Amino acid sequence: MSKRILVVTGGGDCPGLNAVIRGIVKSAKLDGNWEIIGCIESYNGLLKENIEIMPLTEKEVAGIHVKGGTIIKTTNRGGPFNFPVQQPDGSWKTEDKSQLLLQRLDDLGIEAIISIGGDGSQRISLELAKLGVNVVGVPKTIDNDLSCTDFTFGFQTAVQIATEAVDKLVTTAESHNRVFIVEVMGRDAGWIALHTALGGGAEVCIIPEIPYNPKIIAEKIETRYKNGEGFCNIVIAEGAKTLDGKVTGTAPVAIGDQHIKLGGAGDKLKYELEQIGIKHDIRVTVLGHLQRGGIPIAYDRILATAFGVKAFELVKEKKYGNMVVYNHPEITYASLEEVVKNLNFIDPQNNSLLCAAKKIGISFGD
Ligand code: F6P
Repeated sequence: MSKRILVVTGGGDCPGLNAVIRGIVKSAKLDGNWEIIGCIESYNGLLKENIEIMPLTEKEVAGIHVKGGTIIKTTNRGGPFNFPVQQPDGSWKTEDKSQLLLQRLDDLGIEAIISIGGDGSQRISLELAKLGVNVVGVPKTIDNDLSCTDFTFGFQTAVQIATEAVDKLVTTAESHNRVFIVEVMGRDAGWIALHTALGGGAEVCIIPEIPYNPKIIAEKIETRYKNGEGFCNIVIAEGAKTLDGKVTGTAPVAIGDQHIKLGGAGDKLKYELEQIGIKHDIRVTVLGHLQRGGIPIAYDRILATAFGVKAFELVKEKKYGNMVVYNHPEITYASLEEVVKNLNFIDPQNNSLLCAAKKIGISFGD
């Protein structure tokens, strides 16, 4: 009898998810007696009244390495320990549905789960592992904020998209003598912002790891103008913090969503600069989900495929309770315990890319 692996994609979608799925399915097929099943919309497919799963064979995964999103859908709300349930009065409450999940895994004869997701998903993986589930994680997120791995897949695509946006804005900024502020994603990590500022040649880069002083940014802007002529490009991370440590965003409204919805950091900086007295025309562009959509660049397709292959290998070798990681040049693994201990942030003192950025005159507002 063939052994069954359940594949789950969790959290926000990310370029490369389909390439991981394809890597798992193709390597399992070559190995022999395995059946791969996709759980629809993260674990929800097994937690809803009517189970929603789909077979993942070579037919379903043919050519999907170039496709954005995830063919098995995803959600960044809830999960087996925190499942949103509508009450008779119409309100919502979260419930622990982990026992139902265990029951259904058992009913379906699932040997192991491969969970492709970010820190929230890998925390769930660890909790499931503690309940005795055979689980292997794969590090996904455009934010690149997972520990133990050099990169998560999806990050490089987000950087490429954001850099191309800066390239476009530079020409319009220059033509109009404007200041452009580009707000990029990344949650509380500044990786996308730092890489984009370097790739796009921005003059200012604001990251959550370095609280900024708008006066310093204003001074930098003025150095870019002579006799009213000039331009300046600023990349700001959505999780940027002012000197008081505050971020800009709104409280989550959806049940089961524990994250602040970050957003508005660019507009806030524009306001602060105008209050200080910057008279140049300032425009704000928020890239938002454009950074997550569309086709993954080659780098992410390659990394994601290798991650999928490794995840299957870990299942085959029964190396459960681990997440696949990239430690250049090896694709290897680290324990889920270790992975979820800390998030991966930029070290403002020791990060070599940040040092390089400072050495070419990029201001971090500090
Ligand atoms: O974690 C990925 C990410 O895109 C973050 O960069 C961003 O803050 C968040 O997800 C947005 O989430 P949502 O899709 O719920 O708006």
